[in-house]
Amino acid sequence: MFKGALFDLDGVIADTAPLHFNAWKQIIFKHFGLNLPDSIEEKTKGVSREDSLRVILKYLKISISDYDFMKLCEEKNLLYVESLEKLTPKNILPGIETFIQDLQRNGIKLALASSSKNGPYILKKLELDRSFQAIVNPENITEGKPAPDIFLEAAKSIQCEPEECIAIEDSVAGVTAINSANIFSIAVGGAELNHANKIFTSTKDLTLSEVENAWQIQKK
Ligand code: BG6
Ligand code: MG
Repeated sequence: MFKGALFDLDGVIADTAPLHFNAWKQIIFKHFGLNLPDSIEEKTKGVSREDSLRVILKYLKISISDYDFMKLCEEKNLLYVESLEKLTPKNILPGIETFIQDLQRNGIKLALASSSKNGPYILKKLELDRSFQAIVNPENITEGKPAPDIFLEAAKSIQCEPEECIAIEDSVAGVTAINSANIFSIAVGGAELNHANKIFTSTKDLTLSEVENAWQIQKK
């Protein structure tokens, strides 16, 4: 059996993923009068705030000064944080609370491996902060997802080897990061995540017994 479970946050624990892209859409419309197509949302998922803006500007073929870049990041975060104000435990995705309780009952340690600097704030609002033994600070990570660093750090933070952990993601970059860390990858989403060791279409299906089965099959 695995000893550690490493969680992404946005789109895995909470339904906050669309709030990020909505904030970017508003910012881009306000400053450039352009509509961001939904087709680039996936590329902004899992990656840092700064990398998300790089993806967006590259797509729009817009170049701005470092100062304006920083200002746009700040403004996007203000909008995003504003949209988190009403966040409550009701925003926890279906099945996740039970999954977390089952992991805890089995003595499995939990760590958060989110690229979001708002991770601790969100976990607190969801009343899940005390369920996690460790929260990796993405600001201390040199290379963000899809690099393996944040997941390696998360495993270390709960005194586990990567091979003793599972990690859960909803983004292409995140699944690539888990795989590169040599950790058993679990994805929640569609066919774009078929590089994961196991995919669930919804968090509703993410149960300890399903995950254990997938883990046993893989380790044989
Ligand atoms: C990730 C999201 O969890 O956090 C990304 O999937 C986002 O879309 C990233 O860019 C950084 O979040 P924040 O809250 O630090 O801007
Ligand atoms: Mg995510």
